[in-house]
Amino acid sequence: MDLRLAKFNALLKSVKLPPGQLTLDDMFQLYYYSQDSPLSVELGTLQGLGAAILAINSDMVVTVDLFEDVESVDTPSREHYVSCLKTHPREYSVVSKYLAAFGNIQVIKNLSYLESSNFGTGSIHTLFVDADHSYEGVKKDLESYYQKVSRYFLLHDYYSGWPGVEEASVEFFLDKPVRFIEREFLHTSIQVVEKI
Ligand SMILES: C[S@@+](CC[C@H](N)C(=O)[O-])C[C@H]1O[C@@H](n2cnc3c(N)ncnc32)[C@H](O)[C@@H]1O
Repeated sequence: MDLRLAKFNALLKSVKLPPGQLTLDDMFQLYYYSQDSPLSVELGTLQGLGAAILAINSDMVVTVDLFEDVESVDTPSREHYVSCLKTHPREYSVVSKYLAAFGNIQVIKNLSYLESSNFGTGSIHTLFVDADHSYEGVKKDLESYYQKVSRYFLLHDYYSGWPGVEEASVEFFLDKPVRFIEREFLHTSIQVVEKI
């Protein structure tokens, strides 16, 4: 194992993490690209794993999800998120209570793209895009948050099973001043995009 991953793995043993759908390599990306971040935002909380990792290095984390109101997803992936409520229960009250213990995580129940109006231009150092994985969902999230982000976009499931993530991202960033950072670790499905 890469020495940085091994050290990070050891660090994780000291943090009480909630369950989630991230590999060790994914978590390392969140940890690494939120260094010195005054504000990191996660779209798609699920049970809180991504937020908990971002909270290690960020001054403040805001995480947004529809939680039990996931019927409000307004794209073709609505059925997917409703059906996975059974396998991945995510009550707002339970998740927000759990994450409150971290002291620097704010949990918001809302449609991801609607919440963007509550952030100032350039106020978000790192944005973890992991809510609605359809082409339409990712496009809407990128359009509504682009001006709010000063540094990094972390695009989850860019390499795994959700073609809309790559399709929407490539199309959206085509004419923007950004660079796609080459993937360094094999077991991450996160693509990092940096504003330049
Ligand atoms: C893949 S999971 C997120 C995993 C999480 N980031 C983690 O670290 O374990 C996707 C989440 O996005 C939420 N979701 C899907 N579409 C959404 C939308 N448009 N607005 C807010 N939340 C949404 C779902 O309820 C689900 O909890």
